[in-house]
Amino acid sequence: MDAMGEPSLASVGLTGPGTGCLCPQCHAPQGDRRAVLLRPVAPSSVWTVRTAGPHGVGHGDRDGSRTARNPRSADTGQGSTVTGTQQQVPWWHEDGGFFGDLYREADHSLHTFFAGDRGNDARTEAEAAGVVRLCGLSRGDRVLDCPCGYGRHSVALARHGLHVTGVDINREFLRTARSAGRQCPSVDFQHADMRALPPIEPVDAVVNLFYSFGFFSPEEDLEVLRGFVRCLKPGGRFLMHTMVTVPALLTGRIPAEETRPLAGGGTLTIHRRLNEETMREEGQWTLTDPGGHRRTTAPYDVRIYHAEEFAALCRTAGFTDVRLYGGWDGAQPYHDDSPCLIAVATL
Ligand SMILES: C[S@@+](CC[C@H](N)C(=O)[O-])C[C@H]1O[C@@H](n2cnc3c(N)ncnc32)[C@H](O)[C@@H]1O
Repeated sequence: MDAMGEPSLASVGLTGPGTGCLCPQCHAPQGDRRAVLLRPVAPSSVWTVRTAGPHGVGHGDRDGSRTARNPRSADTGQGSTVTGTQQQVPWWHEDGGFFGDLYREADHSLHTFFAGDRGNDARTEAEAAGVVRLCGLSRGDRVLDCPCGYGRHSVALARHGLHVTGVDINREFLRTARSAGRQCPSVDFQHADMRALPPIEPVDAVVNLFYSFGFFSPEEDLEVLRGFVRCLKPGGRFLMHTMVTVPALLTGRIPAEETRPLAGGGTLTIHRRLNEETMREEGQWTLTDPGGHRRTTAPYDVRIYHAEEFAALCRTAGFTDVRLYGGWDGAQPYHDDSPCLIAVATL
């Protein structure tokens, strides 16, 4: 059990490499092969594995929930079926096969489609300084960074003299975050689902950074905003930042296929599309090492809100004033050609 009282996931590895399939997972060394991960729905539930082929069910599913696959586990067997109740794990979950080691490695790309990008560390510093500026924060103010990932902004914000609580659902990321924050007494990290935040001491600002909104259904996304409202002091501010906007996807400014060089060598290739029926970006990442060995994440899908639509959602959640910026200096209002969307909402 963890702090959220969840049962931990178990992995069921069905043996044997994939046969005849051309997908990168089948061409990965044994250590990278994947297992179907299952969760008991109730203590008496039967563990279930249902695989349609060497990659199992869920490989390429587009419905936002799928049987989870852990890149660190063994591959599934071909066409294996074990009957019982099946519990699906969504892509964004720590066991969903997207956020994890591969994501962290891929985050350290040397440059991206962002103009003037100088890498992850420089980006993080600029973003933290932008948060302080746009939220009007002073030393000693309290901030909730949710979701905080492996803590890069939380630690950078603490260095600005702020008291920061970072919240994320991924325990592996939180371990890295705690280790990075060891020298910083004013930062702490908590494990929680952003849809059901635990009570915290009221904060002056909540930040949701780097494309971390829209993972759920629109109803749940609204609940996330309402949860942020409950964490804030009266007059407090909420800042959401994303590079992925509707115009950027539709015009190809964020390309449908992109390859980035990685700091550790090799490349990251991203395939993505905006599904205009669901308004969700659907994508998948593949990391290729210098020797040509490929590893692929689970597919992801994120609801991309139009800027005004997001502002309206903030108002519905209880914010009064919502401002839309197109950059961290706050000088430019958001427009269709902006390199990012930053919404600052005040209670
Ligand atoms: C795109 S990353 C960004 C993280 C961080 N803001 C950054 O810029 O490094 C999104 C994060 O959301 C977390 N996450 C996904 N679903 C979550 C949930 N339901 N509750 C809390 N965190 C979640 C993931 O674990 C991941 O760390």
